[in-house]
Amino acid sequence: MIRKNETVVISGASSGIGAAIAQKFSREGYDILLLGRDENKLSAVKAKCIGAKALHLAFDLKTISEHSSSLLNCLKELSPVSVLVNNAGVFHREAFIETSIEIWTEQFQVNLLSAVQLTQIIWPLFLKHKSGSIINIASTLGIKPAPQTSAYSAIKAALINWTLSLAQEGGGNNIRANCICPGIVDTPIHDFYRLGKEEKVKATAGLLDLQLLKSLGTPEDISEAAYFLGSAFSRWTTGSILHIDGGINIK
Ligand SMILES: NC(=O)c1ccc[n+]([C@@H]2O[C@H](COP(=O)([O-])OP(=O)(O)OC[C@H]3O[C@@H](n4cnc5c(N)ncnc54)[C@H](OP(=O)(O)O)[C@@H]3O)[C@@H](O)[C@H]2O)c1
Repeated sequence: MIRKNETVVISGASSGIGAAIAQKFSREGYDILLLGRDENKLSAVKAKCIGAKALHLAFDLKTISEHSSSLLNCLKELSPVSVLVNNAGVFHREAFIETSIEIWTEQFQVNLLSAVQLTQIIWPLFLKHKSGSIINIASTLGIKPAPQTSAYSAIKAALINWTLSLAQEGGGNNIRANCICPGIVDTPIHDFYRLGKEEKVKATAGLLDLQLLKSLGTPEDISEAAYFLGSAFSRWTTGSILHIDGGINIK
């Protein structure tokens, strides 16, 4: 492993897809700043980031405006930041008519507004180095909504559209912005995550029928794509919407 002397900032790094992205970039020699709410979970993921230097910061992203200086102080201890992964998210499944304004607000704050605020903190650092890669973890539901996901789907659609605006505004300074639209990935965001193997097969059979490929995604399926978008392999890629979803979006 060759140390890259670059840092990746990842929100929602304490679990699922974010944890896999942190470990992937660490294995590839990047310094990592892990963000999440849960101190213990973040420490456990950090312990697996053995490639280069890793730090973590635990706070609720709904209060990110109170944490910008501690975040920037952490970054002073790491290599220059070159990649930002806006990954943190919450998912509520319920009928439109039953979805309260509190649930809309929570999903708006965590899934979109906190990404905007985090990007506003990091953007000046990218401008200074005339280089940076922003990866927004959206969802296939942001392109092709499903019943009982109206708030989540609409907010992920906004995240996708915002990514394209970032790509337009950043291009002149070599700041790239892309998004990944995962399909159904086996993480704690889903109730079926906690089921045993046989129960999970039963619970997810209907979901697999929605896909072209007949297995659930893994966090590593997404972390490999994120590594492509964060690294120089994608130096000429911006404004792209990368579907990693077993083909659900075209079925
Ligand atoms: N899994 C899927 O099928 C799927 C499909 C499409 C898109 N996605 C997207 O992928 C991203 C990652 O989800 P996942 O599947 O990996 O779920 P997950 O395992 O539940 O991870 C969600 C992460 O977001 C963090 N988070 C949630 N609310 C937060 C808050 N208020 N403040 C700070 N951090 C917060 C969690 O931190 P704590 O645990 O520390 O609170 C956790 O690290 C999300 O944006 C999700 O919408 C997932």
